[in-house]
Amino acid sequence: MKPVRVVTLWWVLLLVSRLGATRKGAPEEASFYYGSFPFGFSWGVGSSAFQTEGAWDQDGKGPSIWDAFTHSGKGKVLGDETADAACDGYYKVQEDIVLLRELHVSHYRFSLSWPRLLPTGVRADKVNKRAIKFYNDFINALLKSNITPIVTLHHWDLPQLLQVKCGGWQNVSMISYFRDYADLCFEAFGDRVKHWVTFSDPRTMAEKGYETGHHAPGLQLHGTGLYTAAHHIIKAHAQAWHSYNSTWRGKQQGLVGISLNCDWGEPMDISSPKDIEAAERYLQFCLGWFANPIYAGDYPQVMKDRIGKKSAEQGLDMSRLPVFSLQEKSYIKGTSDFLGLGHYTTRYITERNYPSRQGPSYQNDRDLVELVDPNWPDLGSKWLYSVPWGFRRLLHFAQTQYGNPPIYVTENGASQKLHCTQLCDEWRIQYLKGYINEMLKAIKDGVNIKGYTSWSLLDKFEWEKGYSDRYGFYYVEFNNRNKPRYPKASVQYYKKIITANGFPNPREVESWYLKALETCSINNQMLAAEPLLSHMQMVTEIVVPTVCTLCILISAVLLLLLLRGQS
Ligand SMILES: *[C@@H]1O[C@H](CO)[C@@H](O)[C@H](O)[C@H]1NC(C)=O
Ligand SMILES: *[C@@H]1O[C@H](CO)[C@@H](O)[C@H](O)[C@H]1NC(C)=O
Repeated sequence: MKPVRVVTLWWVLLLVSRLGATRKGAPEEASFYYGSFPFGFSWGVGSSAFQTEGAWDQDGKGPSIWDAFTHSGKGKVLGDETADAACDGYYKVQEDIVLLRELHVSHYRFSLSWPRLLPTGVRADKVNKRAIKFYNDFINALLKSNITPIVTLHHWDLPQLLQVKCGGWQNVSMISYFRDYADLCFEAFGDRVKHWVTFSDPRTMAEKGYETGHHAPGLQLHGTGLYTAAHHIIKAHAQAWHSYNSTWRGKQQGLVGISLNCDWGEPMDISSPKDIEAAERYLQFCLGWFANPIYAGDYPQVMKDRIGKKSAEQGLDMSRLPVFSLQEKSYIKGTSDFLGLGHYTTRYITERNYPSRQGPSYQNDRDLVELVDPNWPDLGSKWLYSVPWGFRRLLHFAQTQYGNPPIYVTENGASQKLHCTQLCDEWRIQYLKGYINEMLKAIKDGVNIKGYTSWSLLDKFEWEKGYSDRYGFYYVEFNNRNKPRYPKASVQYYKKIITANGFPNPREVESWYLKALETCSINNQMLAAEPLLSHMQMVTEIVVPTVCTLCILISAVLLLLLLRGQS
């Protein structure tokens, strides 16, 4: 941990000194824009199976790599937490649909659990009928409430048996296993699901799963494993898209895309060509790595050049970045009906002008340094600073790089790291307001954005952070075995944006804010009363039956004595 902190401090100092010299402050955030979103713009919230469902070994579900990872011992996850129960979402479908209705969302983005549907990961082995029924019921309940399901096929919870048997995404046979799984989902749910996301944030899957080892499967295959994993993921995505296009699209008329997460990279010194290049490189290694093959047929040139050159310097006779054949390029190009974009924050980027002490790695390949402005607000996770203008720039970048595709924002949101039960999440409200407004400006500029998914519905299991980061509109009391949900102030606020389909005028938007903070203090009192409520529960569940049993016993004894006395 220590070196990281030192480096961070150094970055911040460097940034302060260089920003002072080169920029007169951060880029000006233009004034707030009052206006409406296009008619039919889709508003939603999101979540994922592993983070919320719980019921990790129930009703025929197989283990996932995240079950194995969280069960494997100390130090993998903060507080050694598991997601065995998580939010108990598996048992709370009706309750959670009430929350979605309360938010007035038009869509809900969630993921299917591959090991719940296919316990071994392989369709030919066994399909879990109870899982099919569970997701069928869930989808039907959403539709009954007029909520459109946006369904992610894979959000990181790979079946553990595929990891054991094949080595997960290192193995080329994963491509056909994924295609078979995708096909099953199209077949079972595609009559009602019209928006499919193949993979959610595959960059993090590859980087944290196969390079840093911070995520399941926890491998550290420096500078190679992540590129191999990504290569197979891109091909798997393309196969699923082709399978949909050739077999299901005619009947089902849906859309299949991928969801890519990327922060914005702003050149630290806008007059330095090296910084401008470094920021471009940051974006290409982040978004372009997956988007370029899908939209243009190959990895970004800068990735091919850099990784090729470094591999040669490292004495390898082949680039660590795999190569697509001509046939594969044309097969992969054009396999996305929309671009899913996940976005949270922004970094200043500068060229790294000191030699790296690391061996082959993704970090080393990029040759850049990421910095943050210490003035950016960061109430939540350490990495997540609120920088709304970066969102608009990223949306522009995606528009120009990939030929103005339809874009669904599939993730955007903020966490709070508060352990106390504070429902007045003023900071999330400011974040939402700022980011949604920048998205509105991007739409006015002509970016083709179809929908927005705020992350997320509930506080939930946050991977290596355990339950310490709370992204939810609804607070979940994880210590209570009933996992009760409580609305935070941001529920009221987001709901108002949705209902107005934008920001009508300063007076009204200000009144939303005041109203939201008013209701949260009432909800805080409800939450404070909860321990009392659990206490009452104990009274009814344990004390009452015990007392009753005792009463009956005593009466019986008395009756016996009475009868004896009479005889
Ligand atoms: C890849 O997976 C297959 C099973 O589909 C297995 O037989 C093979 O040994 C795996 N290859 C490697 C290199 O792990
Ligand atoms: C998608 O399917 C349609 C209809 O079958 C076909 O005409 C088209 O060529 C397919 N697209 C690709 C890229 O294969």
